[in-house]
Amino acid sequence: MSSREDYHRLRGEVESHNQAYFVYDDPKISDAAYDALYRRLEEMEREHPEWIAPDSPTQRVGGKALDRFEKVEHRVPLLSLEKAYEEAELAAWMEQMARELGRPVDPDFTVEPKIDGDSLELVYEKGVLVQASTRGDGRVGENVIHSVRTIKAVPLRLEGAPELLEVRGEAYIGIADFRELNRRLVEKGEEPFANPRNLTAGSIKQKDPGITASRPLRFRAHGLGVVKGVKFRTHDEAMRRLQEVGLPVVPYERVKDEAAILSYWKRTLEGRDALDHEIDGIVVKVNDLGLREVLGERSKSPRWAIAYKFPSREESTQVLAVDWQVGRSGRLTPVARLKPVSISGVTVSNATLHNPGQIRDLGIRVGDTVLVRRAGDVIPYVVKVVTDQRPLVPETCPTCGARTERTEADVFCTNGFRCPDQLKGAIDHFCSRGAMNIEGIGPEWIEQFVDRGFVKSVADLYGLDTARLMTLDRMGEKLARNMLDAIAGSRKATLGRFLNALGIGQVGEATAGALAGQFGTLGKLRAATVEGLQEVQDVGPRVAESIRRFFDDPGNAAVIDRLAGLVEFRQAERKGDALAGQVVVFTGGLETMTRDQAKVLAQEHGGKTADSISKGVTLVVAGPGAGSKLEKARKLGITVETEGAFLKRIGR
Ligand code: IVH
Repeated sequence: MSSREDYHRLRGEVESHNQAYFVYDDPKISDAAYDALYRRLEEMEREHPEWIAPDSPTQRVGGKALDRFEKVEHRVPLLSLEKAYEEAELAAWMEQMARELGRPVDPDFTVEPKIDGDSLELVYEKGVLVQASTRGDGRVGENVIHSVRTIKAVPLRLEGAPELLEVRGEAYIGIADFRELNRRLVEKGEEPFANPRNLTAGSIKQKDPGITASRPLRFRAHGLGVVKGVKFRTHDEAMRRLQEVGLPVVPYERVKDEAAILSYWKRTLEGRDALDHEIDGIVVKVNDLGLREVLGERSKSPRWAIAYKFPSREESTQVLAVDWQVGRSGRLTPVARLKPVSISGVTVSNATLHNPGQIRDLGIRVGDTVLVRRAGDVIPYVVKVVTDQRPLVPETCPTCGARTERTEADVFCTNGFRCPDQLKGAIDHFCSRGAMNIEGIGPEWIEQFVDRGFVKSVADLYGLDTARLMTLDRMGEKLARNMLDAIAGSRKATLGRFLNALGIGQVGEATAGALAGQFGTLGKLRAATVEGLQEVQDVGPRVAESIRRFFDDPGNAAVIDRLAGLVEFRQAERKGDALAGQVVVFTGGLETMTRDQAKVLAQEHGGKTADSISKGVTLVVAGPGAGSKLEKARKLGITVETEGAFLKRIGR
C-alpha cells in the first residue's frame, strides 16, 4: 500500500521531469522511465481519487468538452506592439522616447525574437495556475485554462512564486510539428491548417481538451501583468525570476544602442530559417521598469517597446495553372503553378494545394491572385485567394482580343472566323467525316494553314496548291498531292453534308439532312424565314433563329458565296426507300451508332426524323433506358422496334 506522502513525492517527481523536458529541454531520464513513473501515478490516483489535486500532472488532459468560453477581464490590458519595418522607423522610436523624457533614453534594452503564435495570459495564485486567458480584444479575453493545462511547458504549480503572478507569453507550434500534423490530417481526408499560427489559435480555442492535448503546443513567457508580493526593477530581473520558478521564457539579450539592436536583428533574420518555429521579427524593450512607467502607453501599444519586423514570408501572385502530382503512395496532390514571385529571398513558382478539399475551400481558380507563404524548408503553400483581384469573365477573347459576349451560361468570342481558334475549329469540322469528308487534314496541318495565313476561311482550302503546301513543316510531295486530291474530291457534295460542314450553331448532321430534304437547294434555304425553317421536323424556334442569324452574318455570307461557286451539289444518295413515308423517332440508348448517325441513316432510306412523339410519328426505335417517349408511343399505338430490327428493315 502506498501512503499519501509517497503520492506527493511521486507527483513532484513527475512534474519535475515534465519541466526538465518541456521547459529546460534537458531530460534527466529516458522516455520509458518517465512513462513508468507516470503510469504509477495514475494507478495511485485510481486507488485514491480523493488525493487527486488539480495541479497533478495527470490532470493536464481530461475534463469534458465545453459549450462556450467564459469571458475574463484582464486586470491590466494586453496591449499590442508598434511596428517598425525599416531602420529609420527604429531611429524614430528612439527619438520619440527621448522627446518624451527630455533626454536620451537609457542605453539599456532587451532584444528578443517575436514569436509568431497566439498570446496567452496565465494567472498564478500562491504558485497555482488558476486562470489562463486569450488576448481577446486586449481588455476582455476568454478563459482557456482547460486547453492551457494540456500544454506541457506550462507549469501547473510554481515553486517559490509570489502571491499573485500574471504571466504573459506566446503559445506556438513548431514548423515540423505543424507539417506532421497537417500531413496526418490530409491523410485522414481532413482539412489542413493554413499556418502554424492558425493551428495554435485553433488548438487553444478547442472545446475538447483531449484534442488540444494531441496538438504539440509550446509556450514561452515574455512579460508580466499584475504581480503581488515582489517588486522587480528590470525586465531582465523579472524574466530571470520566471525561469527560476519554472517558467520557460523567450530567449533575450541585453543591448546598449541602436547599432547593437540592428546587428541582433540581422543575426536573428539570418538564423530564421534554421529555427524550428516561426518568428516574424524582433521585439525591442526598455529594460528599466521604472522608465517604462514614465514613458507610459498609447491607446493600443506601449511607448517603451517596438516590434522590428522581418521581410514578409507571404507575397501575392497569380495562379497560372493547377496541375496534379502523383506521389509515392499514388496520391494525387494538386499543385498551383504560379507567376514567379520572390518571397524573402527565394523565387517561388509552385505551391502545394494539399488535396482537392483545399481547392474547394480556398475557392481557387486559374487566374486568381493568391497569397503564397513560404517558411523555412516548408513547401510554399497558398494561404488564401485575394478574391477582390479575381478577374471577371474575360471581356476580350484570349486568342484574338475581340470583344466577348455573355449568354446566361457561357461567354463567346464575337469575332467569328477572324478568330484563329474559331477558324481552326471550323476547318476541322468542315473536313470531318459527316461533313465534307476531306481525309488527311488533321489539327497538325490546320494549325499551320491558319498560323501562316494560307487559310482565312474554309473556302481558302480550295485555293491551296503544291507549292504552298511544300513550305509546311513535315510536308512531303506525295502527302501534298494526296491532300489536294482529297480537297478536290470533296467538291462534289450533297447539300446535307455541305450544310453540316458550315458549322451552323445547333445544326448537326441530322438537322442538316432534314433541312436539305425540305428545301432542296442552298438558295431556297438561305432565303427561308424563321417561320419557314420551323416547318422542318426537329427545328424549333431557337434552332431556326440560329440558322437565320448564321446566314445573315455578312462574313458568313461572303464565304458561302465563294463556296457555292466551288461546290457542285449532287443529289443526296438514296440508299433505299424502305422508310419512305415514315417519320422515325429514336429513344433510349443505341449500340452501333450515334443518335445523329441513326437519323442520317433513316433519311438516306427515305424517312423523316423527329425528336418527340406526336401523331405524325410512325415508327419508334427504342433502346435500353427508354422512358416516357416509349410509354407515350405505346399509348398512341405507334410501332415500336429495336435497333436490330430497324437495321434489318433498311437491309443492314
Ligand atoms: S512583448 C505590450 N515580446 O506580439 C505588448 N510580445 O504585437 C508586449 N509577441 O500579441 C508584448 N513575441 O503576444 C512581446 N517576444 C515577444 C513577443 C511578443 C510575440 C506577440 C504578443 C503580442 C504581439 C504584439
